[in-house]
Amino acid sequence: MTALASSLTEQKQASVSPPLWLLAELTYRCPLQCPYCSNPLNFAQTTSELTTEEWASVLRQGRETGAAQLGFSGGEPLVRQDLGELIAEARHLGYYSNLITSGLGLTKAKVDDFAQAGLDHIQVSFQSSDPDLNNAVAGSRKAFAQKLAMARAVKDAGYPMVLNFVIHRHNIHQMNDIVALCERLGADYVELATCQYYGWAFRNREGLMPSRAQLEKAEYEVNQNRARLLDEGSAMKLIFVTPDYYEERPKPCMNGWGSLFLTVAPDGTALPCHSARLLPIEFPNVRDKDLKHIWYESPGFNHYRGNSWMPEPCRSCDEKEKDFGGCRCQAFLLTGNADNADPVCSKSPHHDRILAARQAAECATASIEDLTYRNDSNSRMFFRG
Ligand code: FES
Repeated sequence: MTALASSLTEQKQASVSPPLWLLAELTYRCPLQCPYCSNPLNFAQTTSELTTEEWASVLRQGRETGAAQLGFSGGEPLVRQDLGELIAEARHLGYYSNLITSGLGLTKAKVDDFAQAGLDHIQVSFQSSDPDLNNAVAGSRKAFAQKLAMARAVKDAGYPMVLNFVIHRHNIHQMNDIVALCERLGADYVELATCQYYGWAFRNREGLMPSRAQLEKAEYEVNQNRARLLDEGSAMKLIFVTPDYYEERPKPCMNGWGSLFLTVAPDGTALPCHSARLLPIEFPNVRDKDLKHIWYESPGFNHYRGNSWMPEPCRSCDEKEKDFGGCRCQAFLLTGNADNADPVCSKSPHHDRILAARQAAECATASIEDLTYRNDSNSRMFFRG
């Protein structure tokens, strides 16, 4: 590289902050079939997962590029037999590491091994406070009992108990029961995350999206529970993540494209967010390029950096530095063009798509049996052509 080219590269790198968060999607394989999974619809097409050595190299390059937080997710990351090895490597490299798991495939011995290897944090997801609904949504008869046992094992190993419930129209009436279950388990943090409509959740949006009345009732119940927990001196924290489909301004998705988050998919595709591979943009692969080049130089990561790419109404909007025009993946899913303003924004000419989704949620009748479950055979439908 010439001196001039190298100085231009340094200037460019100085204007982009490092990827503090690395999400390692170790696999798309999963024993569960949740119809709101954020994995791509055609996940079954991905057969060539990175090897242990390749993942270790990704982790090493991530640290060299500035990443400090590491998430192991999937699919179900426990499906990977080398998870303990990767956790140990993450500790060796100095990451703060987090395992995001359904709890299926976990054992008390594995929790202890992971703690020994240096894992910092474990989050266990639930589908419901009710065993039957939990198992029906997960598509597994054993799921609920296993999750209860593993939530307890996590706490016994000295971790804070962090539980995640994805909230949708079929479990949103259970807020009080969910909180009661979490209290019985001795949870420290409970994330009540309303469904985000990407991947399988977008496919099933009509059958998952709560009505406004359902949402308001749930929010009221969460606030009541928060006040009661405070009165009782409980340290349990409730985090309620509301759905952007009921907002008038978009979320600053990923804190801006290519600003903080770097996801590596099971086949090594590097992405600015977990959903971006659906966009008509070519994304680099860690098998071909190193992470530093990918983060700073690749056209995919630079595509929506800054705001020069923005069309109206974002271009002249005084909130563009705050929300970055919203979510590129949502703009693509709802308008067919990721350059557009996120239709969640009431200034967007496509905001009617959000209003129509809200309207549909008022009169939706789908039961959980009507949803398209995330499994290999359904996934194959999306790449048969
Ligand atoms: Fe991809 Fe929002 S999920 S930019």
